[in-house]
Amino acid sequence: MLSSIFHEMWFKQMCTSKARLDGKTVVITGASDGIGKETARDLYARGARVILGCRNMKKANEAVEDIKNNPPTRITKDEYKNNVGELAIYFLDLCSLKSVKDCAKNLLTNEAAIHILINNAGTSVPYEKTEDGHEIILQVNYLSHFLLTLLLLPKMQLSSPNCRIVNLSSIAHINGDIDFYDINSEKSYTQYRSYARTKLASVLFTKELAHRLKEANIHGINVYSLHPGLIMTSVLRNVLNAIFLGTVIDFVLKLFYKNVEEGAQTTIYCSVDEKAANETGFYYSNCGIATASPKANDRQYAKKLWDVSCCLLNLKPEEDFIKFLETVSHQMF
Ligand SMILES: NC(=O)c1ccc[n+]([C@@H]2O[C@H](COP(=O)([O-])OP(=O)(O)OC[C@H]3O[C@@H](n4cnc5c(N)ncnc54)[C@H](OP(=O)(O)O)[C@@H]3O)[C@@H](O)[C@H]2O)c1
Repeated sequence: MLSSIFHEMWFKQMCTSKARLDGKTVVITGASDGIGKETARDLYARGARVILGCRNMKKANEAVEDIKNNPPTRITKDEYKNNVGELAIYFLDLCSLKSVKDCAKNLLTNEAAIHILINNAGTSVPYEKTEDGHEIILQVNYLSHFLLTLLLLPKMQLSSPNCRIVNLSSIAHINGDIDFYDINSEKSYTQYRSYARTKLASVLFTKELAHRLKEANIHGINVYSLHPGLIMTSVLRNVLNAIFLGTVIDFVLKLFYKNVEEGAQTTIYCSVDEKAANETGFYYSNCGIATASPKANDRQYAKKLWDVSCCLLNLKPEEDFIKFLETVSHQMF
């Protein structure tokens, strides 16, 4: 485990796939900044129609302008000009389940297909409850993405094969522990613990969704979770502030930082790479499969999380996954 942590932190593997995404539609949550924006830039350069799901429209419009004018470093401006896809912005505030439902409804109505869903947005802000009554990090990082995925899955099924769902987790998932009896952290809370448990939830959700898709004989939709590396964005800044690292550790950590383009590579790999097309349910780092924590591999824990998530969203868990997806849509719209 230690050697895999060292490998995850030290190496800066770039995605080498030349795959094009002409005719494909990609949805990226939280693409106004950081890793999400760099991922959008790369997939737009590959010809995809890239939808940025964002809550701050001014920032999202600035991101679109920036992406249009500046190619990823792997290609020249001339190559970029004539080979790009399309960019669109949809309003999405993951602090609000109503906003998640509205965004999903708009996507289902307006988009002919959805081939890749990247659940990227993340936060690590101090304790607060959302309008839905959930602890904010839990809702933004995990619960809203759980719901968004379920709502978009029928459209992805129609868009398959070759569909992918990519969940941004973190190496912090190894410190995660989910207290199902205090899911909103009302009895016990630290900012870092809350962040870490949502990243564990993301790996568990990935594995459980992959299982359920397989069991329901739904092929052609693969699911991935990943650690992007350490990148100095506002999410990491808040996490580091929350755990009060000393200056020495802070200095050592800086040696491992990736720039934001490097930080987007594993997301890009999971979204496009040909080799990853034959894999589902795994956890990745540095553009390859990595070892997730033992808890993240516990199926009973994953099933429990699934049921608790349904309960938080007032969804009736259902044995038959296809029926379950139908009832989710009926209940939510
Ligand atoms: N940076 C790292 O070292 C690191 C390490 C491991 C994992 N990760 C994960 O990587 C993902 C991307 O993080 P990042 O480093 O790129 O952070 P970032 O630069 O802070 O970007 C986070 C994105 O999420 C969006 N977001 C936050 N709250 C939202 C909400 N309520 N509704 C919709 N969008 C929301 C932000 O939009 P606004 O601008 O509107 O806030 C922003 O676009 C996260 O899931 C993070 O946990 C990052």
